[in-house]
Amino acid sequence: MKLLACLLLAACVFECSAYMQNVTVKGVAHWSWEKRLANVKVELWEKDTLDPDDLLATIHTNSEGEFTVFGEQDETHAIAPYLLITHNCNVEKLNCNRIGQYVVPKEKIGATYDMTYVTLDIKVHGEKEKCK
Ligand SMILES: *[C@@H]1O[C@H](CO)[C@@H](O)[C@H](O)[C@H]1NC(C)=O
Repeated sequence: MKLLACLLLAACVFECSAYMQNVTVKGVAHWSWEKRLANVKVELWEKDTLDPDDLLATIHTNSEGEFTVFGEQDETHAIAPYLLITHNCNVEKLNCNRIGQYVVPKEKIGATYDMTYVTLDIKVHGEKEKCK
């Protein structure tokens, strides 16, 4: 009986305990090849099925359009991170922004996902446009 209780407890600790996971995403935001975009907002989010998604980190691209964002979170299941990049390339009105979503591949969790050049002209799946 004692042994069984111990086994159950051990299984639960293994199954139920959260563990720290991280991801680093880097890239260069650009528009029409020659134009690198400075000061573009890059947010790293983590998708949660039951709770609202968590914002892990927010940064802005530097004068060369480069960004490196790091985030970590304690979860019981594998984290599902994604980036939101807010920019105004090819918007119809000046006061509008496009918000593109870029999913981080599962195998990049615990490592660095190098997106190299992120071409913001290209519309991505599930993209939103927000106007002030
Ligand atoms: C990120 O996670 C990996 C894999 O679990 C680990 O080896 C690494 O030390 C972590 N990096 C940081 C900065 O926490």
